[in-house]
Amino acid sequence: MRRSNISINLERLMRTIEISGEIGELSKGGICRLALTDEDKQMRDLFVEWMKMIDLEVRVDDFGNIYGRKEGEDSSAPAILIGSHLDTQPEGGRYDGILGVLTALEVLTTFHEQNKVFNNPIEIVNFTNEEGARFSPPLLGSGGLSEQFTKEFIYSRTDANKNTFEEELKRIGYQGCKKNRINNIGSYLELHIEQGPILERNGLDIGVVTGIQGMSWMEVKITGKSDHAGSTPMNMRTDALQIATKLIQKITDFVVEYDNKALITIGRFIAYPNSINSIPSEVIFSMDIRHSNDTIKEYLTNIVMEKLNVMACAENASIEINKIWNAESVDFSDCLIQTISKNAKDLGYSNQKIVSGAGHDAKYMNKLGLTSMIFVPSQGGKSHCQEEFTSKNSIEKGANLLLYTVCQLAKEVETLN
Ligand code: HGY
Ligand code: MN
Ligand code: MN
Repeated sequence: MRRSNISINLERLMRTIEISGEIGELSKGGICRLALTDEDKQMRDLFVEWMKMIDLEVRVDDFGNIYGRKEGEDSSAPAILIGSHLDTQPEGGRYDGILGVLTALEVLTTFHEQNKVFNNPIEIVNFTNEEGARFSPPLLGSGGLSEQFTKEFIYSRTDANKNTFEEELKRIGYQGCKKNRINNIGSYLELHIEQGPILERNGLDIGVVTGIQGMSWMEVKITGKSDHAGSTPMNMRTDALQIATKLIQKITDFVVEYDNKALITIGRFIAYPNSINSIPSEVIFSMDIRHSNDTIKEYLTNIVMEKLNVMACAENASIEINKIWNAESVDFSDCLIQTISKNAKDLGYSNQKIVSGAGHDAKYMNKLGLTSMIFVPSQGGKSHCQEEFTSKNSIEKGANLLLYTVCQLAKEVETLN
């Protein structure tokens, strides 16, 4: 296959990342751009404007997923889809998801200015609510497209202020229609930061992602008895917060001792009535359990729930456990993995195969077409925090590998210019 002799415009790409970083900007350089907020709308509007500037046909589907299409010579051929998500964590970084969408835009901008023609159509996508930080579970846009969740389920999701997904999608003007969903995908390729320490520790340019580990989310409610902080003896309390913290420590110790590759995170913890001088009557906390082996993850999830029930009972507290989301591990397309590995080698980029610890839209896109991901290193392995950083040099390599691979997958047509 003739190697395409074009490359991205790095300064232009870095400029779009910088502009994105100003929308929802936080004091330490991170971003708060939760799904379907005004900040998300502002970024979506800009993304649409940028896509129209390079003559892409822009569509929005009924989940708010935004597509930009560069038609192919054969418009009936399966599309090559590239992209990721523009929504962030509450204290998110500038690159998680955003890099995948903006490098996809840069690749198509480069094709546009070089008048490149391809046999297959190429589409860019921004998926709604990948993070699940405002509306859980995560991956609602890609999960809706791949029919993992019904539209009713997605539309009824509520945020902490009881706003529904549907109301917010309408409010920001991004409730498109079902006929706009992409429906003929050949391959889906997502460029993303690694969000972990492996590539940096091994001194490598690229991670060729072979799959994603499994993960399950639960919400636990512990109910005790509120009472006066000053007149209730310690041995007469059913303090929901004290009980919850004791249980959390015990299940965490159990998981870590059982398997050092298992991961458990209590990311959200709310105590009621949340007053200095009232004993907490209720605590609600989240649990995120992950493992690359589905059987072990399932076992740990069930054992943890069992232990929580037994221990809460022993403390005379009541407990409710609500399963929010269960995602099996996925293996990506072998042929796409081989193609990316070979291309990285052709371009002189050091690389290794890697399983993703983080979840991605690629998990559900794997059901609709040949799927894989390109990882670039995260400085210090950090992500989901304002310190998240990936170097310009890494971004350039990841973006050029994406461009080179898309040229192949979409079958570049010789042009006479
Ligand atoms: O939670 C995750 O793994 C992803 O970054 N949203
Ligand atoms: Mn992400
Ligand atoms: Mn993320």
